[in-house]
Amino acid sequence: MQKYLITSALPYINGIKHLGNLIGSILPADIYARYLRQRGEEVLYICGTDDHGAPAEIAAHEANKPVAEYCAEMYATQKDIYNRFNIAFDYFGKTSTQSNVELTQEIFNHLDKNGFIIERTIEQFYSVADQRFLADRHITGTCPKCGYAKARGDQCDGCGALLDPIELQKPYSSLNPQDKLELRSTKHLFLDLPRLQDKVQEWTTALDNPSKVVAGIIRKWLEEGLEQRCITRDLSWGVPVPKPGYEGKVFYVWFDAPNGYISITKDYLPDSWQEWWRPAEPSEVHYTQFMAKDNVPFHAVMWPAILLGTEQSWKMVDYIKGFNWLNYAGGKFSTSQKRGVFTDVALDLFPADYWRYYLLANVPESSDADFSFADFANVINADLADRLGNFVSRVLTLVHKYFAGKVPSGSIDPDLATKTAQLCESINECHNQLRYREMITEMRALWGLGNEYITTHQPWKLAKTDLAQAGFVLNNCLHLIRTYAIVNWSIMPETAETMYTLVAPTGAPNEVQLAQAADFAALAEGGTVAEKVALFAKIDLDQVQELTERFGGTV
Ligand code: MF3
Ligand code: ZN
Repeated sequence: MQKYLITSALPYINGIKHLGNLIGSILPADIYARYLRQRGEEVLYICGTDDHGAPAEIAAHEANKPVAEYCAEMYATQKDIYNRFNIAFDYFGKTSTQSNVELTQEIFNHLDKNGFIIERTIEQFYSVADQRFLADRHITGTCPKCGYAKARGDQCDGCGALLDPIELQKPYSSLNPQDKLELRSTKHLFLDLPRLQDKVQEWTTALDNPSKVVAGIIRKWLEEGLEQRCITRDLSWGVPVPKPGYEGKVFYVWFDAPNGYISITKDYLPDSWQEWWRPAEPSEVHYTQFMAKDNVPFHAVMWPAILLGTEQSWKMVDYIKGFNWLNYAGGKFSTSQKRGVFTDVALDLFPADYWRYYLLANVPESSDADFSFADFANVINADLADRLGNFVSRVLTLVHKYFAGKVPSGSIDPDLATKTAQLCESINECHNQLRYREMITEMRALWGLGNEYITTHQPWKLAKTDLAQAGFVLNNCLHLIRTYAIVNWSIMPETAETMYTLVAPTGAPNEVQLAQAADFAALAEGGTVAEKVALFAKIDLDQVQELTERFGGTV
């Protein structure tokens, strides 16, 4: 049986992530993993913190802590937040481990032996005041490709191009713009990507239908032609370069971070990690990666080039799901400027399921999307409180009023059952193909079915004239609640579990596949249903205004 490997981009260790980070990789990966587990598949969902690189060093310095200690603390903080969002990783590890050092050095040694590593002496920006070479991302200047004035030395946020700081026009240090920068010579190692281009090209044609965002990025990269890339840095925090003459240098963070997917699996499954990363046949494992679009070049081109260059048989990604940006009230979410809503604060404001649903409903899938509290309140109120919550509570109230809280007898309404099954099937397909916008449309339609059904049949009126007929209608409504709980589970696990127990005293929603979610024979007649509960609370306008002011957005 085919197994499913899932990874979401490893979040940088420095700082708590914002809502855009969550919907851009971890949350959709979690929903996919839950969906597959619900379908009975063998799944491994791996993530962890990306600990190396200059930003971690700087953040530790600002916090006045040794970098290892800083990382340990931030690891615990991030892990706890994802836990409270009910992200069901199989394992959440980190890249600053012995196993990642060993694996990265081993991968490097293979590349070197195979002739894909080149030594070059380069000119690099040196801060005279700090007496050290500056990391790429601390150089700012004008992008040579698109003219964006605030391009970072490693990557341009204007056009997404990966850069070398010396390509920037009018470069300055973003740490201290007055700093005197000198270009000094130093020796570095480069990955010979031009010689790996053919291998990558051949491999990408085998990639299983990447999303549009991803396909465009891959094409652009390969058409422009790959260039040699520097993979070493003058830092002390990172994976040491195992080559004479490179003492005191470490690998570029993007050279060690993706290897973390493998080394984290090793940390979790020391005896069986090879089943995932070295399967006898690649088709034994189906591997899906989730990430935001700025990460795509690294996952679709650079890391594959690295793995292919080792000439070892690594499991390569089958499907890359890339996301656009979630913006905050018309601007950018910004970790450095603390602009937007961050994941820890979000959980203080509303339950995890509200965020999980809203973020998915507003996922930046085929274009960028915008977060605002006004929109958040609209979606929660209209979809969850009115459409879903209200239906459930009306049904339970009526069952208690007319049937003493017991599942009334009734047979399947064929029309309702058919429509329900069709929508469940379509939602199932959306999960399978990772099409989230469409999935939410179908979920809304599924919840709408219940409302239409109860409004059309008016069991409260029927109860006065034909109690058996009222029972028939409510019996079907109770089945729908069960269906909702099953279908909602991967997206809103907590409320789905509550909802399920309202109507079905045994079992759990994650034990039923979507294909069986519309099985209207599943509830025992005469079983007890719970009293109504308030599943969702509405968010009022005052609250929207207060939150908007507090978080500095616009309504
Ligand atoms: N830390 C990177 C980011 O947040 C993602 C690293 S993904 C990995 O953009 F594959 F390199 F680990
Ligand atoms: Zn640019």
